[in-house]
Amino acid sequence: MCSTRNLEMVRSIGADHAIDYTKEDFTRNGQQYDVIYDAIGNRSVADYRRALKPQGSCVIAGFTTIPRMISHMIVGAWVSRTGNKKIGMMGVAQPNKKDLLFISELLEAGKVVPVIDRRYPLEETAAAIRYLETGRARGKVIITVENHR
Ligand SMILES: NC(=O)c1ccc[n+]([C@@H]2O[C@H](COP(=O)([O-])OP(=O)(O)OC[C@H]3O[C@@H](n4cnc5c(N)ncnc54)[C@H](OP(=O)(O)O)[C@@H]3O)[C@@H](O)[C@H]2O)c1
Repeated sequence: MCSTRNLEMVRSIGADHAIDYTKEDFTRNGQQYDVIYDAIGNRSVADYRRALKPQGSCVIAGFTTIPRMISHMIVGAWVSRTGNKKIGMMGVAQPNKKDLLFISELLEAGKVVPVIDRRYPLEETAAAIRYLETGRARGKVIITVENHR
């Protein structure tokens, strides 16, 4: 899922099917999914539940408001315990060597294609953060550290 301006980019990195969230609500389009990975986390537990197939799982990586995050944790846990669909927040990623090696293999095999939006030198880190805070960065924003010897 992405907005109109990112549709082509998302297809170019391997999406078989891309949904424009400004035109279609993935929780009300009659489709159900085995797995939902939501990096933004701006939908209700009821929405995720409707969009999941029986035995399906929804992993939420981000949050937009504190009340919504608390609802994802508490209502998500209750729905997961009482029904046949799992909905929950993933918590904060804990990178480790094994996972990073696995990701580097996916990158080398071209199965994950990185998208770099902008690069900033170290001394312009504040500007990089300001750009991230717009919420409109496409892919990653990189800080480059040069060796000035
Ligand atoms: N759990 C963890 O350990 C962990 C770690 C890192 C990040 N995160 C979470 O992952 C999310 C992404 O991180 P980030 O640093 O890449 O954030 P970001 O820079 O704010 O992401 C911006 C991107 O999100 C897209 N976007 C905004 N609203 C969207 C929506 N409703 N549906 C689909 N795309 C949407 C924007 O595209 P448009 O401008 O086209 O809308 C833009 O390309 C954040 O919510 C962050 O909290 C979690």
